[in-house]
Amino acid sequence: MLERDRHNFSPEALRSDIGDLGDESAISTIAQLTGTGDDTVIELDQVTKTYRSGDLNVEALQGISLKIERGYFVAVMGPSGSGKSTLMHILGCLDTPTSGTHLLDGADVSGLSEIELAQVRNKKIGFVFQAFNLLSTLSAWRNVELPLIYAGIARNERKERAFEALGAVGLLTRSEHKPGQLSGGQQQRVAVARAIVTNPAIILADEPTGNLDSRAATDVLGLFDELHQKGRTVILITHEQDVANVARRIVHIRDGKIQSVDERSQ
Ligand SMILES: Nc1ncnc2c1ncn2[C@@H]1O[C@H](COP(=O)(O)OP(=O)(O)OP(=O)(O)O)[C@@H](O)[C@H]1O
Ligand SMILES: [Mg+2]
Repeated sequence: MLERDRHNFSPEALRSDIGDLGDESAISTIAQLTGTGDDTVIELDQVTKTYRSGDLNVEALQGISLKIERGYFVAVMGPSGSGKSTLMHILGCLDTPTSGTHLLDGADVSGLSEIELAQVRNKKIGFVFQAFNLLSTLSAWRNVELPLIYAGIARNERKERAFEALGAVGLLTRSEHKPGQLSGGQQQRVAVARAIVTNPAIILADEPTGNLDSRAATDVLGLFDELHQKGRTVILITHEQDVANVARRIVHIRDGKIQSVDERSQ
């Protein structure tokens, strides 16, 4: 390794180093750092979450083990109180498990601090929420650009990538519109563009059709399917069977445990 490259931890630099070493354990370490080791994007092993409020402990997740491969479209379904939101908070690095391990893109994120979790979220996860969560004073493309500002990307590149993401959801002609000038379905499309603009390892959608009429819902679900067809990893949280049916795999949870997993042919 050249002295001037000593602080270059880019995946390319790390891989070329490893090429010289050719050593299995070093390769697996680098795979963990760069997230290119295999095709598993998420791996939960015996994850539990216990909420403590006063004297009462609620065991919201009771040993969830789950693997999601790159490019999969997975729905998590379950009745009210089954632990869907709790699971989503963990998958989205908004919270950490009480016990068990959570690997995201090859790296263990189970014990990270708040600040480290925020960095992982910005880099690795695109969120789509039921209520769109767009800023009403900003145009569509300015909303889409936001995660790139947090990621420290330069202005010109931000604009280019925001427009590219809006193109991918079929909304280029609405890029200067503010959320109030868009239909619900279009607002959710802008939110999807915002979720994909950082090129995240996973797109995590929490009841994304909950505030849409059935036509707009079908539209947005079609968009998720399209992203999946293009190789994105999509995780959809829902309590509705019709919504879950668009996914390739449905994970049913109940009382904080996985009850069954349906693999569906497509
Ligand atoms: N912050 C918290 N403190 C204490 N208990 C909590 C907390 N959040 C959730 N719970 C409990 O954990 C269990 C799982 O809740 P969770 O919100 O994950 O369910 P859900 O499947 O998302 O339900 P819904 O479909 O109604 O949104 C519930 O029994 C709930 O009361
Ligand atoms: Mg919930």
